[in-house]
Amino acid sequence: MTREPVVDLRSDTVTRPTAAMRRAMADAAVGDDVFGEDPTVRALEGRAAEVLGKAAALFVASGTMANQIALLCHTRPGDEVVVGEGAHVAWYESGAGAAWAGVQFAVAGRGGTFDASDVEAATKPNAYYLPRTSLVAVENTHNRAGGRVFPADAIARIAAFCRTRGLGLHMDGARIWNAAAATGSSEAALVADADTVSACFSKGLGAPVGSVIAGPREVVERARRFRKMLGGGMRQAGVIAAGALHALDHHRARLRDDHANAAAIAATLATSEHVEIDRTSVETNIVIFDLRSVDGETFVARAAEQGVLAHAIGPRRIRLVTHLDVDRAMCERAAEVALRAALPS
Ligand SMILES: Cc1ncc(COP(=O)(O)O)c(C=O)c1O
Repeated sequence: MTREPVVDLRSDTVTRPTAAMRRAMADAAVGDDVFGEDPTVRALEGRAAEVLGKAAALFVASGTMANQIALLCHTRPGDEVVVGEGAHVAWYESGAGAAWAGVQFAVAGRGGTFDASDVEAATKPNAYYLPRTSLVAVENTHNRAGGRVFPADAIARIAAFCRTRGLGLHMDGARIWNAAAATGSSEAALVADADTVSACFSKGLGAPVGSVIAGPREVVERARRFRKMLGGGMRQAGVIAAGALHALDHHRARLRDDHANAAAIAATLATSEHVEIDRTSVETNIVIFDLRSVDGETFVARAAEQGVLAHAIGPRRIRLVTHLDVDRAMCERAAEVALRAALPS
């Protein structure tokens, strides 16, 4: 019996480079990027800066490296950084903020997004015996909040508060491309209020490696030094930058398909009494739901047996992420498998 191919919805990071992307990578002009001599890296950095509406951008190995460099650029050891609940920079970066920048985190609001009043409540008064609040980081879209778009008006109010208090504003825009596709706003408009932004090519855009940190030229030059300190100076990196450049120029428009596929999965899941899902939370390519009748481990194992890979992000909470390598038919099949996997034993 031939088994149906696996539908891997654990993350949008699982995509493989397309044939056209591989060709672009194979043909890339390269040089030693630590000497500033890789033309493809330079082209990617220029193009990313343009799309993000910032003066400059720096190619880095990962979203984590981009976020950690942002912390190093904006803070001093002992400082406090205000983030939303479940922020990637505080949850999923192995405690790097404490290890490298020497910062601690204060959580603003509930559910990942927040407003200026939450930042004000989380910001410490200026006293020598308190940590110095120096940075606010917003995540757009917000991963643990189910790919939610951070409301632009809230970001504008947060930015205004940051300016009055002299705080930096960083956007973890790992999936800023999805926010742009969902809202119809340009990436540049969505990140305009942030001083710096990190953005990933290896998620919904489907490149194998790479992210950027973008911002004012002077900050990006400091970022370059921190990248070297972290061991992120790469040599003929044009080979991977070419994949990222191809993704940037060819894979943004199709993100709307991923969003429609996620909405279709959510609609099917909502028909089950064994699933708790807020369909309005599915704004982009991430579907998060709770299981009423089985635990997450059981669900994941059952789904895997049926060729669908899912990710448990809590004892009863499941995350499914749509991407370049899954089409509507695969998503529909995955949703049917999920319905069966959610049934009581
Ligand atoms: C919101 C967000 N920021 C940063 C990252 C880190 O990216 P990387 O896995 O490339 O380190 C991720 C990864 O999933 C993410 O979802």
